[in-house]
Amino acid sequence: MNKDSKFTLIVVGFVIFFISFIGMVIYGYKTFAISSPVKKSETAFRYHFALVAEENENDYWQLIKKGAEQAAKDNRIQLEYVAPKKADNDELNKLLDRMIATKMDGIIVQGTEGQRFKDLVHKSVERDIPIVTIDTDMEESERKAYVGTNNVEAGKLLGKALLENTTGEQYVAIITGRKEAINQRQRIQGFKEIVQHHPRVYILATRESHITKNGATMATYKLLKQYPQINALIGTSALDGPGMVEGMHEVAPFKDTFILAFDTLLETIQLIKEDKINATVAQYPEQMGKNAVEAMMKLQKKDLLVNRLYTKTKIITKKDLLSEKDVHP
Ligand code: BGC
Repeated sequence: MNKDSKFTLIVVGFVIFFISFIGMVIYGYKTFAISSPVKKSETAFRYHFALVAEENENDYWQLIKKGAEQAAKDNRIQLEYVAPKKADNDELNKLLDRMIATKMDGIIVQGTEGQRFKDLVHKSVERDIPIVTIDTDMEESERKAYVGTNNVEAGKLLGKALLENTTGEQYVAIITGRKEAINQRQRIQGFKEIVQHHPRVYILATRESHITKNGATMATYKLLKQYPQINALIGTSALDGPGMVEGMHEVAPFKDTFILAFDTLLETIQLIKEDKINATVAQYPEQMGKNAVEAMMKLQKKDLLVNRLYTKTKIITKKDLLSEKDVHP
């Protein structure tokens, strides 16, 4: 082989080697390179939270949702709202389980009674998905925090409102949302603590409204038929007030009955203005939604030192409605 051919061979060899090397680098990079995981801060949303409510279209839960959505928007959080069509603990637990399976960064949920709920909270926390209970606490679970009304204290407010705004003997019937809801039982407990041994108060019966206005109307109707001496009606959930007014209108329109409601939905406020409801206990559901999202954000980093985050409660009567800001802050 002469010198020229040797040189050509070396050049050709080098070119082949060079092309193969480049090819190997490109192919190898594509095949073996491990793409670095997308950091949450680089995506549009920082976290993905779920809010599991008691009942989908209930006006009270819509206010919680509104507050939570606003806080989520302000903090670049994606919020998923799910709820049973009609209040039902089994349905709620199923939704909670589904949210755990979808690997949320945190779940805000109404606390419900029973082992199933506690087991689900345990499962969630084991998977590093913190749980915050809202509106109703479930203290015996491993939830990381509770945001909402102190329900026993709120029940005491009902008791005080009855004593402060009535004179003479009170024959009382209680209309409650659902007996299996912890917050409803706590409100009744608080109410009874204040009035049970009071010499002019007699509690005659307690009936459920199933957290609907219609349910409260029916319950009132039946109660008044059974106990015509009733002269005070106490409601412990948001639609009970308007339902009790409707029920009284049907069964004894001219009877002077003291009506004490819960919450400040627009219809309740209107009925206070019209002197058809004497007083109501205000809760602040929008604030609950906001506070719950903010607590959940903190929980992404570490546990909270104070984990019972109570929102305000307050008795509202007609004279308070002159300054509306107190009702809907
Ligand atoms: C309660 C909620 C309930 C709602 C029903 C509120 O007073 O806090 O637990 O779902 O009433 O309308």
